[in-house]
Amino acid sequence: MVHREGALTKRNWRFAAYAVSTLILGTYSLSESFGQSASNATAPAAGEAHPATWPARAASIPADPALERRISQIVAAMSVEQKVGQIIQADIASVTPDDVYRYHLGSVLNGGNSDPGGRYNAPAKDWLALADAFYAASMKPDGKLPRIPVMWGTDAVHGHNNIVGATLFPHNIGLGATRDPELLRRIGAATAIEMRVTGIDWSFAPTLAVVRDDRWGRTYEGFGETPEIATSYARPLVEGLQGKVGSSDWLRGAHVIATAKHFLGDGGTAGGKDQGDTQMSEEKLRELFAPPYLAALDAGVQSVMVSFSSWNGVKMHGNRSLLTGVLKDRWNFDGLLVSDWNGHAGVAGCTASDCPQSALAGLDMYMAPDSWKDLYGTTLAHVKDGTLPMARLDDAVRRILRVKLRAGLFEAGKPSSRPYAGRYDLLGGADHRALAREAVRESLVLLKNSGHVLPLKPGGNILVAGDGADNLGKQAGGWTLTWQGTGTNRADFPHAQSIWQGIAEQVKAAGGTATLSADGSFAAKPDAAIVVFGEDPYAEFQGDRPDVGYDDAANLALLRKLRAAGVPTVAVFLSGRPMWVNPFINASDAFVAAWLPGSEGGGIADILFGKADFHGKLPFSWPKSSDQTAVNVGDAGYDPLFPYGYGLTFADKGELPMLPEVRAKAADADPDMLFGAGKPGGGRRLLLGRPDELLVNPGPTLISARAADRAAQEDSVRIGWTGAGNAVAAIVQDQPVDLTRQSNGDLALELELKVNTPPTADVSVMMRCGAGCVGGFPIHAALAQAGTAKWTRLAIPLRCFEKAGVDMKRIDAPLMIATAGRLDITLSSARIVSPMGAQLSCK
Ligand code: BGC
Ligand code: BGC
Repeated sequence: MVHREGALTKRNWRFAAYAVSTLILGTYSLSESFGQSASNATAPAAGEAHPATWPARAASIPADPALERRISQIVAAMSVEQKVGQIIQADIASVTPDDVYRYHLGSVLNGGNSDPGGRYNAPAKDWLALADAFYAASMKPDGKLPRIPVMWGTDAVHGHNNIVGATLFPHNIGLGATRDPELLRRIGAATAIEMRVTGIDWSFAPTLAVVRDDRWGRTYEGFGETPEIATSYARPLVEGLQGKVGSSDWLRGAHVIATAKHFLGDGGTAGGKDQGDTQMSEEKLRELFAPPYLAALDAGVQSVMVSFSSWNGVKMHGNRSLLTGVLKDRWNFDGLLVSDWNGHAGVAGCTASDCPQSALAGLDMYMAPDSWKDLYGTTLAHVKDGTLPMARLDDAVRRILRVKLRAGLFEAGKPSSRPYAGRYDLLGGADHRALAREAVRESLVLLKNSGHVLPLKPGGNILVAGDGADNLGKQAGGWTLTWQGTGTNRADFPHAQSIWQGIAEQVKAAGGTATLSADGSFAAKPDAAIVVFGEDPYAEFQGDRPDVGYDDAANLALLRKLRAAGVPTVAVFLSGRPMWVNPFINASDAFVAAWLPGSEGGGIADILFGKADFHGKLPFSWPKSSDQTAVNVGDAGYDPLFPYGYGLTFADKGELPMLPEVRAKAADADPDMLFGAGKPGGGRRLLLGRPDELLVNPGPTLISARAADRAAQEDSVRIGWTGAGNAVAAIVQDQPVDLTRQSNGDLALELELKVNTPPTADVSVMMRCGAGCVGGFPIHAALAQAGTAKWTRLAIPLRCFEKAGVDMKRIDAPLMIATAGRLDITLSSARIVSPMGAQLSCK
């Protein structure tokens, strides 16, 4: 997918055509780095599995001839268009009920940022109403074609977390610490009921990732670093969600369809890079990642989701040897294999809207959130011309129908008529919240307890500090109402209890006094202080990190100040992974790893005040240094700070010697920060000049830049275009970057700027993908509209750049602002974000 000049000019350059013609750069100073692919790992093996070397598995669900006959009858009556529609899943943000009817779509999903009416906090009743609307569309008569109910999938990954008021269980990392498989069964059952309340049939959970490198942004979605925990949880959790195979309420009534994800090797990518490459022998791949899937299949899991990642350089979405050879043939999986969010687009030769390769490799349902319509067209053509054989299409359709029939969808009636639908009292109901609180209690891991400072006496004077103490968003983590878990507020968690509220309740009940003091200041010296702090929410690749050092000067100072005042301090650390926190451990008397506990903060108070003892054991080895990023039990030379399985109880001696406080390596710059704090992000430069000659300081004729202040001294840059000719301000990469991960989704390039002098001509914002490869988007209207002298936020969907012909795989200038007219702006930041609020449209 290389867009050279010809390709570019053919594309619809109506927006910024002038800019293209002037920006087709022949050669220029950075040309040596062009054309290099950003990640080109050398594959140690071909990424081809040998299924015969994998453990064989007999089908756990007995063949049902009556069911198979019924499937055959339906398939025989289906049109080819209907079959193609059946294997496609669209996102509710990009599809209407009428589309579902017209294109015969088999399924819809809501991605992490997709909600009824586009409102992240839409009330539960809107979800149920939308479920009814999609169902009705799928059942509306259409000539002689059989009616096939649509199925809705959602990421209920820590409770039914897209719904306001739902119970939020600890993320999987915390559940891993409980080592309590039966607890997982109950959590699965409770989550299924809350899903049923809103009429949703299918959960994209559990994640069975075995996480080997804690830099990975999805570490918290995994139960641990060894296959053992996920394997022991897979059966009870799948059975909690789906019910037991053979029981009358399997997949129906109080139950839903579960998904084992992401197949295979998602947690093993090199460098912990999300959607990266798992580089290891077939034997190692099998040993580390297969066991939890075998357990889930034995429990009857009905769907499996393919991993975005590659194995030895081959994208899983195209790996026939694993998808068909191992999973379907060797393991006798007869349910449906769904792709991950346009994951098929990563397969060599594919795009999001055209990829027979995945179906040929064994995929049964394409998760094609926004690409579904084009994919429908291309897939239909591939069936008609034989590229995708009818037999393979029929097999995919059969699998989807098998799951739908097993789940009773054909007889279930509209979602709002099914058991538990509309029982809004069950969302965050007392029983479920008590269960979540129990899970929180079991998940906490005590790492230090000097002088038996814990348990605290609730009757005393307790100071509560830290920015995590009264912060539901931080306590819940990613995948909470929004994809990243950001942008929420207290009102979005009507039934929840913050950690502070849980503490206050118990202290008050015992006759003590609790004070919330954000900065840790106090009037009367407290008997003890609890400081709650940790990572801010993130999801997927947005959470990838260059190391595992935790940097937080404010809370460290707070702990030290309290310590210095002679106050016994208890640190409660919220995080989606183990992190190097030596300075924080040194500055506290007791240190608790609390993970991402969810809606029931009271569970933390239960333990800190000794209502129950600590139970949790580390599901991940705890790093000894900030660069000990892949430390796993069983490694040669295994030397963590706290080993896998570690965790104190009250009776244990909890003293620790002073730990070294030298950070091994400062974290690299945030890869998604293009410009901030007055300078370009790491590995980037701000260059100015003519399109074919970008320089640090081109002289003032065309364009100039100087430091400017917004909130702090020189935290911004002021850029002036003189109008004497076409000129560009560009953030240029030292090395090209691959932004395909960021553009597959709804990330945006967000600029915060102030217009000092409005544009006198067209202005474009562009990205460049090497010499002669550039595409962009007009922003003069938005700039003119912004008015002068006030700060404005402009969010430009990354897919707009893709639409404009930019090859996101090799971006060497992620931001270029160009105009031939006069313009004067102050730029305070440019970042790639999951945008909250309005975005420019590129339709
Ligand atoms: C994630 C999946 C998720 C899907 C739908 C993907 O980006 O990798 O885990 O199920 O989106 O939201
Ligand atoms: C969606 C997520 C999805 C991600 C993939 C987001 O826009 O909300 O569900 O996992 O894109 O990158």
